[in-house]
Amino acid sequence: MDNIKDFVQKKYGEAISQKTSCCGDSDCCGNSLNNNADIIKANLYSSKEGGLPEEIFKASFGCGNPTALAELNPGETVLDLGSGSGVDVFLSAKRVGPNGKVYGLDMTDEMLKVAKENQQKLGIDNVEFLKGYIEDTPLSDNIIDAIISNCVVNLSTDKKKVLQEAFRVLKSGGRFAISDIVLTKPLPAKISQDLLAWSGCIAGALQINDYQSLLQEVGFENISIQITRDYDLTSETSKSILPNLTDSERADYNGAIVSAFIRATKPE
Ligand SMILES: C[S@@+](CC[C@H](N)C(=O)[O-])C[C@H]1O[C@@H](n2cnc3c(N)ncnc32)[C@H](O)[C@@H]1O
Repeated sequence: MDNIKDFVQKKYGEAISQKTSCCGDSDCCGNSLNNNADIIKANLYSSKEGGLPEEIFKASFGCGNPTALAELNPGETVLDLGSGSGVDVFLSAKRVGPNGKVYGLDMTDEMLKVAKENQQKLGIDNVEFLKGYIEDTPLSDNIIDAIISNCVVNLSTDKKKVLQEAFRVLKSGGRFAISDIVLTKPLPAKISQDLLAWSGCIAGALQINDYQSLLQEVGFENISIQITRDYDLTSETSKSILPNLTDSERADYNGAIVSAFIRATKPE
């Protein structure tokens, strides 16, 4: 499984450095704001959202807009799992204000470098970027009010560990509020074994029921999974997502891949 993590790290390092896609030649996880050719990432943020310059959103690799859906209050401490170039960290920092704090955690040096450069450009103080794995969060127990994340948990090869770590660092009553790619039905084996599909947020995605069970097993309550976007796999633009599928398989699996907003709380 380490080869998947290394591959994902390499792909995202290349993607942020070269402003290319994390899925080889395809556009599925490309880096664009309001690019309609990019079906997963198109139109996630409004331009100048949170007062941030448009430039910042161009280095986003998410599949949702967790800060738009998460409850974040002034003075709170937030953790963004797989913070990339920092878009959601900066949006959260505005929401929690000067008395709050936002941690961005990412394993990829190139992403952390861009995130820190962005932080400096924006002059935002209540933010700290940490290098590390979401399966082994470098933070103490019970210190976080809300965990956000944007299209990252699906990339992990040990999702139970990710959720256990999230549970550990959250305070009692703390909120897990993330965007992720999930499946409404299983994909064929040739997709789950495709490393490019893995780094493109598809192959590692959990089925909705399995996600719910895992969150429950780890101890979360008030679990909800709300589909925020579904993808037409038969459209020309979406063929880049799964180049190995035939047209008839694309029709069969149409609707299987969706973006969702996943909410849960740590019991009081
Ligand atoms: C799809 S990008 C999303 C980045 C950011 N959340 C955004 O919306 O732009 C995935 C990010 O998660 C990071 N990542 C993937 N797996 C990780 C892991 N196991 N531990 C820490 N970071 C990870 C990658 O380095 C990359 O920056």
